[in-house]
Amino acid sequence: MKGSAPSVARTANFSESIFSFQPILRYVHACQYNAYLLKSQLPFMAHTPALLTFAIVGCGSIAPTHARALAALPSDVRLTHCCDEKQALAEAFAKEFGLKTATFDAILADPSIDVVTFCTPSGLHASLGTRALAAAKHVIIEKPMEVTSAACESLLTAQRASGRQLAIISQHRFDPSSQRLRRVIDRGELGRLVLAEARIPWYRTQEYYDSGSWRGTWALDGGGCLMNQGVHTIDLLLWLAGPVKTVYAQMRTAAHERIEVEDLITATLTFANGSIGSLMATTSAYPGFPAYIGLHGTNGSAAIEGDELHLLAIKGREIIHGKTATAHALQVATGGTKSATAHSTAIPETTTTGAWSWGDAHRAQFADFIHAVRTNGTPLVDGVAGRAAVALINAIYDSARTGRVVSVVD
Ligand SMILES: NC(=O)c1ccc[n+]([C@@H]2O[C@H](COP(=O)([O-])OP(=O)(O)OC[C@H]3O[C@@H](n4cnc5c(N)ncnc54)[C@H](O)[C@@H]3O)[C@@H](O)[C@H]2O)c1
Repeated sequence: MKGSAPSVARTANFSESIFSFQPILRYVHACQYNAYLLKSQLPFMAHTPALLTFAIVGCGSIAPTHARALAALPSDVRLTHCCDEKQALAEAFAKEFGLKTATFDAILADPSIDVVTFCTPSGLHASLGTRALAAAKHVIIEKPMEVTSAACESLLTAQRASGRQLAIISQHRFDPSSQRLRRVIDRGELGRLVLAEARIPWYRTQEYYDSGSWRGTWALDGGGCLMNQGVHTIDLLLWLAGPVKTVYAQMRTAAHERIEVEDLITATLTFANGSIGSLMATTSAYPGFPAYIGLHGTNGSAAIEGDELHLLAIKGREIIHGKTATAHALQVATGGTKSATAHSTAIPETTTTGAWSWGDAHRAQFADFIHAVRTNGTPLVDGVAGRAAVALINAIYDSARTGRVVSVVD
């Protein structure tokens, strides 16, 4: 697997046999991952620019996660600039993280800036990202890559013409649970996949949708609970279960006002490998429950719930039952990042916190991206993967609008 953590993979069998010590293992996995990141970058440091400098464009809810993730990486990476169309927001952000503010044009023209990371509304990702690629910057774009396949394609075309790197944030691929399940699948331990289930029973208040004029619009959010919140799970499903061939869906705006998009959607899926699946996403399931992916094969089953490996049952082996959802998985289920209301602080005491917490997965994805830049490799979540998630989501929307089975064209 591209960009994955080989040092973690080598210890998989050992760790799987003592799964009951999960909190200790999570800490060990985090340490192993840090060691991997350091080790994987050392051989290349001498051959690449000593310092990779970053600028953030869009200083809203998710931007602090990017700033903190970059600050936690080795000292050959530095965030220096930020930009927001609201100057006051850019200045407050710059003050908090010790940055300089600049206009977008100035960032593009500044030869000292190597990488631009976009935390802007989803429907602006292509128009801004293609300009950055044309200015010879490496580019990181928050999920979803864009809101239409055509816009994703324009980013891919710009990336290929530029020879620079492009990655789409889909941080949950880097969770230890996702990495571990991917290794289980790669080793063929589940057998032939026959059924995949994905659920995103989240909650967002009306205030969340009212908090930004772009939220809940087709043009800039690209959709509702599936495009904005569900894209994480869609990307994981594609990564773990493979491409989807056809979809049949229904959607509603069930429990929110003043939004154009769906807050409830269900779909049945037929995968290219012949397996079938079901999907449910919502932002109307008060108070919000952890996202879930269940995979069932001819030799076993596995499930991730709330970013934790919840179940691993392989024929002839001891069944492994995981812990409850991580605290941050419950936080995003109940309210999200900064856009959340008071609901998001209500994390039940029974949940685990673990060594893997909010921001760690972004940090791991940035490290994977930097590794790709330094080695001229391919980031784990590249533009092709980003476009595949957007294509599947839009096929599901097409089916819900037309009432027909729709083929996924990526
Ligand atoms: N990976 C995750 O877990 C995660 C979580 C939240 C949001 N996101 C994604 O991050 C993106 C931003 O979401 P958010 O919740 O931070 O939104 P937000 O509205 O809180 O922040 C967006 C910021 O972009 C600024 N902006 C808009 N147009 C701009 C332009 N042309 N130039 C410069 N700045 C501009 C806005 O003023 C605003 O401050 C979205 O694509 C969203 O889907 C990802």
